[in-house]
Amino acid sequence: MKRVDDFRLKFGKKEFVPIIVGGMGVDISTAELALEAARLGGIGHISDAMVPDVSDRRFDTSFVKDKTKFYKYNLDNSDKSSIKFDLGVLADATRRHVDATMQAKRGEGLVFVNCMEKLTMNAPRETLQVRMASALDAGIDGITLSAGLHLGSFGLLADHPRFRDAKLGIIVSSVRALQLFLRKNAKLNRLPDFVIVEGPLAGGHLGFGMDWAQYDLATIIAEIVQYLKTEQLDIPVIAAGGIFTGSDAVSFLETGSAAVQVATRFTVANECGLPDKVKQEYFRASEEDIIVNTISPTGYPMRMLRNTPAIGSGIRPGCESYGYLLDGNGNCAYITAYNREVALHPDAKTISVMDKTCLCTHMRNYNCWTCGHTTYRLKDTTRRLADGSYQTLSAEHIFKDYQFSVDQKVALPG
Ligand SMILES: Cc1cc2nc3c(=O)[nH]c(=O)nc-3n(C[C@H](O)[C@H](O)[C@H](O)COP(=O)(O)O)c2cc1C
Repeated sequence: MKRVDDFRLKFGKKEFVPIIVGGMGVDISTAELALEAARLGGIGHISDAMVPDVSDRRFDTSFVKDKTKFYKYNLDNSDKSSIKFDLGVLADATRRHVDATMQAKRGEGLVFVNCMEKLTMNAPRETLQVRMASALDAGIDGITLSAGLHLGSFGLLADHPRFRDAKLGIIVSSVRALQLFLRKNAKLNRLPDFVIVEGPLAGGHLGFGMDWAQYDLATIIAEIVQYLKTEQLDIPVIAAGGIFTGSDAVSFLETGSAAVQVATRFTVANECGLPDKVKQEYFRASEEDIIVNTISPTGYPMRMLRNTPAIGSGIRPGCESYGYLLDGNGNCAYITAYNREVALHPDAKTISVMDKTCLCTHMRNYNCWTCGHTTYRLKDTTRRLADGSYQTLSAEHIFKDYQFSVDQKVALPG
């Protein structure tokens, strides 16, 4: 019976344990978590979501405070279009986050950064370019393009000295999205180094509509593997979404995937950035507690726990401090929903907004409990302590369980 360790992910002449820990913003996939994956010979991701805030917490900078102060005049204005990101600050914060992570890297594995296109930041092209270029400047091993079609993202990097040496890949959820990406980038003569195929059971935003349950990861992968074969393109395909055991992973590795990307199992790792209290919520969740809704202002469905504090919250939009989801015209669907409720309840002290949420503020405060579909199985991966809480696990334990387990078994902590 095969184990994940019988397989290797190959990038050129280099080989890796075919386990990738997926990017989880905002700082849920911390540097510590990513570094463990790399130390163990796999690939870890940090995320550049809200990176000035991450820098403030990690390096004691004051980027968010400074921005809030600068835009204080706009707090009571329902129009947030004047709020812009300082590209110098964005570059500085990204470099700090990436540089400190790469300096700490040990072992044979790699650390990538997850860059979401949907963080449009009121200047989509300029901000994405700065984010990606600064990460490359600071020595990141690779970039995973996510949450968007990224049709122009490679183009934004074409003049960067590391454009052809860094590992650059994209997350897709359909063969069509991949075809579009490849067609749009054909003239750059630079194929992606990897394609992550994320199915409907993943955490975070989904690349599907609310009909997500009709799709199946194995089927999408088979289509993509076939397409790449027909086109004679040799690009490693990486399966993601709902892969809970080493045996699940092996079934993908045996049918054309070069590696797996996993995340949910690591949300209860000691190294994961979620507060301990939230990790316990993930452990306690039952299958009925895991829902997919459309409260994210990005327009993508998102999976989360039913008791997520962000649901129904009517807080004032936090764009003066954050503003990561402002589109190119300075709009965000939460601002529209919030202003509508304020107009409907002019005398109310607090309001509730059900259809959208202020994702920036709630992700920053770990109040949006996004999770993968298999979260309800996390309780089976650990022991219950005397006080009724669940024991969190080391990332090494989870990683090695994926790497060595057989027979759908999950090793409990010692
Ligand atoms: C808590 C959480 C946060 C996530 N955040 C992001 C994110 O910011 N960007 C992204 O591309 N994917 C995100 N994902 C998706 C993962 O990177 C990964 O591809 C997917 O969840 C793998 O499936 P699994 O969780 O079933 O193992 C997130 C997943 C989880 C569980």
